[in-house]
Amino acid sequence: MASTDLPTSIDDTVARLTALDYVPSRELATTVYLALKLQRPLFLEGEPGTGKTEIARTLAAMLGRPLIRLQCYEGLDLAGAAYEWNYARQMLEIRLQEGSTADRQQLASELFSQRFLIGRALLQAIDPTQPVPPVLLIDELDRADEPFEAFLLEVLSDFQITIPELGTIKAAEPPIVVLTSNRTREVHDAVKRRCLYHWVDFPDLPRELAILERRVPGAGRALAQEIVAFIHRLRQLDLYKLPGVAETIEWTRALLALDAMVLDPELISHTLGVLLKYQDDIAKVAGSEAARLLNEVRDAMRGAVS
Ligand SMILES: Nc1ncnc2c1ncn2[C@@H]1O[C@H](COP(=O)(O)OP(=O)(O)O)[C@@H](O)[C@H]1O
Ligand SMILES: [Mg+2]
Repeated sequence: MASTDLPTSIDDTVARLTALDYVPSRELATTVYLALKLQRPLFLEGEPGTGKTEIARTLAAMLGRPLIRLQCYEGLDLAGAAYEWNYARQMLEIRLQEGSTADRQQLASELFSQRFLIGRALLQAIDPTQPVPPVLLIDELDRADEPFEAFLLEVLSDFQITIPELGTIKAAEPPIVVLTSNRTREVHDAVKRRCLYHWVDFPDLPRELAILERRVPGAGRALAQEIVAFIHRLRQLDLYKLPGVAETIEWTRALLALDAMVLDPELISHTLGVLLKYQDDIAKVAGSEAARLLNEVRDAMRGAVS
């Protein structure tokens, strides 16, 4: 059964995630291991592009579970997140049955049955007829409105949803739940309290290099080292939006597409749009600042070698 495939230790968690090209910090691997072992939802907060969504995908692959994703947005409600009645189909069948009274009575008793129910992510995730409990990703919860959190709280505490017309649907085995937030606002304490919490930080230099080696294997070691060191300097600047790991990967792919072997100030300036998405940030870095940062990178690397 499904629970036998859980990792057996923190080391095992690290190894199995890494085998799927996800390079976790020791702290994240510990939290993941515990969340699986204790059957608690995992709440991940952090800057965009630091691997929060990706860990849910990787966990699903690692454990051989389907991934069910609920992308949160402003105005997300029960109908979008859990279920709604198929009103169009109900109307259509009523029309088709207009002739006979017996059929109509039959239909009336069936109008609010499974046949007319459209299950959205949350309902799908607790569907007791599924062969294995899935990984449920509730992505970017900070984008949803606060009332939605209250509803979510119920689902997360009992893994059940009550549909007034139909009854209570309860998971046979709880799904593995990953919630993420980019922290554009604080998520309510009550939600966090039900979860194991981890702040996903930008990776340190060696880990970002390891990520890059796995995600863009075509990049040479020298170029990869320069790229990672440059981006780490960039993240120390006072920018509106710092580049995440996703940007490191994209930039490396872009530089490879341009057949770059090493960085140079002009190349950096001309490709900054892959890394930075605000004109003010780009203007701050392009030109002499890029050259200065690159010099710092080179000095530090020479220092490390000698
Ligand atoms: N620890 C990691 N190991 C491997 N790849 C990573 C890691 N963190 C981020 N990535 C890469 O960065 C990309 C963006 O990550 P994502 O999960 O979408 O960020 P977030 O959800 O935090 O905004 C992923 O597609 C993945 O390729
Ligand atoms: Mg994400």
